[in-house]
Amino acid sequence: MPVVGLSGIIADSFLQTQGKPMGFTTKQIHAGVTPDPVTGAILTPIYQSTTFVQDSVDQYLSKGYSYSRSGNPTVKALELKIAALENGLSCTCYSTGMAAEQVVFQAALSAGDHAIVSDVAYGGTYRLATKIYSRFGVDFSFVDTANPEAVRAAIRPNTKLIFTETPANPTLKLTPIAAISEIARKHGILHAVDNTFLTPYFQRPLELGANISVHSTTKYFDGHNATTGGAVIVDSKELEEKVRFHQNATGVIMSPFVAWLTLQGTKTLSLRIERQSENAQVVAEFLEKHPKVQQVRYPGLKNFPQHALAKEQASGFGAMLWFEVKGGVKAGKKLMDSVKLCTLAENLGSVETLITHPVTMTHAVMAPAERERVGITDGLVRLSVGLEDVEDLVDDLREALDKL
Ligand SMILES: Cc1ncc(COP(=O)(O)O)c(C=O)c1O
Repeated sequence: MPVVGLSGIIADSFLQTQGKPMGFTTKQIHAGVTPDPVTGAILTPIYQSTTFVQDSVDQYLSKGYSYSRSGNPTVKALELKIAALENGLSCTCYSTGMAAEQVVFQAALSAGDHAIVSDVAYGGTYRLATKIYSRFGVDFSFVDTANPEAVRAAIRPNTKLIFTETPANPTLKLTPIAAISEIARKHGILHAVDNTFLTPYFQRPLELGANISVHSTTKYFDGHNATTGGAVIVDSKELEEKVRFHQNATGVIMSPFVAWLTLQGTKTLSLRIERQSENAQVVAEFLEKHPKVQQVRYPGLKNFPQHALAKEQASGFGAMLWFEVKGGVKAGKKLMDSVKLCTLAENLGSVETLITHPVTMTHAVMAPAERERVGITDGLVRLSVGLEDVEDLVDDLREALDKL
């Protein structure tokens, strides 16, 4: 039986105790959890307790926990599991993906600092930077991080963080992680990567040189549209201390119940995203050939502008794609209202296929000119391909396209 558990042994020890590295799927099931020592329960219990009784004033924290804002055993089990999956030094978990991003900003930036952020990223990242952190004296440049030269040119003496999202929501533009990490390290700047779209099953930014990997666990880790959560995985003790400090100080830790649900979802992560990606490839190829489709973008299509980079830095293409139909915005909206199986909703990464209109939903916060500049067009339809039988998904889309 795996021996990594709430004792706090980190992911690496787990790998070493087995003599050889374990596969991702084995780790996603076993890392971070041990049978409950009192009852033998195979699942880590939901430690729904605000506080933890101390043995004595002189033996404070002898069992490792004091108060659930600072740390909780169920949350800890998930943190150990995700650290093992990303091959990171440690992981901390949060109430949402935005809380996780916020902690990265707080750990890296102070008033007077400058940060470079991918010009295409989740709308909430743009909002966090422009509407909140800019008020506290941090300067942001939104840069085409697909282009290392543009990143190099944007660096200032006070640049402290490069925050990239790859593949980016919703255009799927890729950032070359290794190239940007190299530039960042040369200048003593932290590189954080939002790895939500591919998960550590397909892409591990820390192995490519980044310092921080960030997730909205709301998406593929949960996978069932049941929770909101986030995770930050780091590569150094110094960063671990900083993010743990902010996790406690700002009160954004994940709840024990959400951690418990996410622990269960994570056990099937590789199987879900693998099949969802296969489905996405089939759907993309179907859309590509359909006469009513203007264009489709999926990293697994040979004509995807960064197809070679997708193959180089990740072991799979993911399950997100976007397309535009002929007839512009009006036709796109009609399609989104006509599909039956593809559900019109925000969120992504779940077993249910979700169809989203970024301009009115996930990226409504961006200024129209800014959206246009980075290719988020009014007619862009985003599809998070789920786990349904792919023939049913294709039939659903075909029926809706035929009505246009
Ligand atoms: C790429 C990406 N990062 C971060 C977030 C924010 O995550 P959450 O909604 O869990 O706060 C999202 C949400 O859609 C996202 O798509």
